[in-house]
Amino acid sequence: MLTPVPAAAVSPESDPADVERRAAALALVAQDHRRLAVRWEALIMAIEVEDDAAIVRDCIVSLISCARDHFVNEEWAMRTLAAPEYLTHKAEHVRLLRDAGDMLKNFDAAFTPADWTAVAAFFRHWICSHHSRWDDALFARLPVPTGGAAPAA
Ligand SMILES: [Fe+2]
Ligand SMILES: [Fe+2]
Repeated sequence: MLTPVPAAAVSPESDPADVERRAAALALVAQDHRRLAVRWEALIMAIEVEDDAAIVRDCIVSLISCARDHFVNEEWAMRTLAAPEYLTHKAEHVRLLRDAGDMLKNFDAAFTPADWTAVAAFFRHWICSHHSRWDDALFARLPVPTGGAAPAA
């Protein structure tokens, strides 16, 4: 595993390649966040329209899979950006995936369509609380590369 470099050791103006890496990392994470939003919207749509457990389950699995891929990318971005909270943020990703897996087991074993709104609320909180506590804090402290914009969480 790579050891994060203290943020102070990396200056966004230091060299063009570094600025380019930082911009690429930020863009990748921003794209992932948009993908997660689409998966979330698909889950809501499935619950509201489809009324089919298999389709709702597919949406949950897709959301979790998208999050798993995103966490790999975001952890790479944090290493690239020398984020000092890398280890604690990564541990939070592990916890999120464990909680989502538990929720999926409950969906399979115990929940009825009457519970699906609560499942959707769980996954909304699952995503939003992490973004507001960890991802927003990550990007708020990062200098925006020249010509770029901070991604929306
Ligand atoms: Fe994160
Ligand atoms: Fe994220």
